[in-house]
Amino acid sequence: SAPTGATSTALGANPLLSPIDRPRRLRATGAVRALVREHTLRSRDLILPMFVREGIETAQPIASMPGVLQHTEDSLVAAAREAVERGVGGLMLFGVPEAKDAVGSGATDPAGVLNRGLARLREELGDATVIMADTCLDEFTDHGHCGVLDARGAVDNDATLERYREMALAQARAGAHMLGPSGMMDGQIAAIRDALDAEGFTDVSLFAYTAKYASAFFGPFRDAVGSSLQGDRRTYQQDPANGREALRELELDVAEGADLVMVKPGLPYLDVLRDVAQASPVPVGAYQVSGEYAMIEAAAANGWVDRERTVLESLLAFRRAGATCVLTYHASEAAGWLQGGLPEHLAEFA
Ligand code: PBG
Repeated sequence: SAPTGATSTALGANPLLSPIDRPRRLRATGAVRALVREHTLRSRDLILPMFVREGIETAQPIASMPGVLQHTEDSLVAAAREAVERGVGGLMLFGVPEAKDAVGSGATDPAGVLNRGLARLREELGDATVIMADTCLDEFTDHGHCGVLDARGAVDNDATLERYREMALAQARAGAHMLGPSGMMDGQIAAIRDALDAEGFTDVSLFAYTAKYASAFFGPFRDAVGSSLQGDRRTYQQDPANGREALRELELDVAEGADLVMVKPGLPYLDVLRDVAQASPVPVGAYQVSGEYAMIEAAAANGWVDRERTVLESLLAFRRAGATCVLTYHASEAAGWLQGGLPEHLAEFA
């Protein structure tokens, strides 16, 4: 439309009523909004967490995470290929074993479901994407804790580090490019780095779960990995009331050799993400966890929020808060939207 001049008003005399600063000027057209937009979302910023389950013939739905599947090896490969074709930056693999025990034996078995899945992905995809592995025992233990227990039933930090070292080596041998130690044991990054280097895996990188909170938002993940936790994780995951200890964990992880660091959950902890992003000398990721996914899906299914906009807005919020990359169960789908080019009504998200 043709430019129009300002309407004359009687308010001109009072500067409060006739603002000199008009931020709306930079919002007036799609073109000017595009020109001044600070943050963007790209497919390669997104990492897709995936589940591979042992002993199933066909992929299984996860009730509390509609749209997410527990994969067979074959369906895993197909979904991984699709995500990579859409341009996602990486895949984070979790295993769902048939049998669990006190020490999580399946985690270190080269024929265990996670190690087999990693080997298959590396064989099929080579270096076309970054293949990441969850380095943690909770999917493999019958008590559901992230480590092994001592005689009193408490999670034994240092005995767990020994298991993590073995697990990391099994994952590196299987072909993982990057490991994500998510158990919040003290010293886990140094212990794993040392084990990897001693076997020559100096190029396998570590994506440290640096600030990971004892969160209710992990709820649906328990369904996803068939885990029933005995007790809770408050002796090793961070207290939701605390911000400062995230910076202490950051210092330790970086000193121990973390290549990237992560904040998790995502949206409820954007303040922590911002603090970590400002202080970190290494790239920072955010994990939009299972409960966040479930909330968006449930609200969208009810017609209470616009699904596409809510997904994209939440992912862009992580970028604005300082995340270099974002783990999200929407990664493949969102990458598909971005790949096709977003329509005008979603223009602010790309
Ligand atoms: C631990 C791990 C968990 C998640 C990622 N890694 C579970 C937990 O710590 O309770 C949760 C991810 C999610 O909720 O999406 N292996």
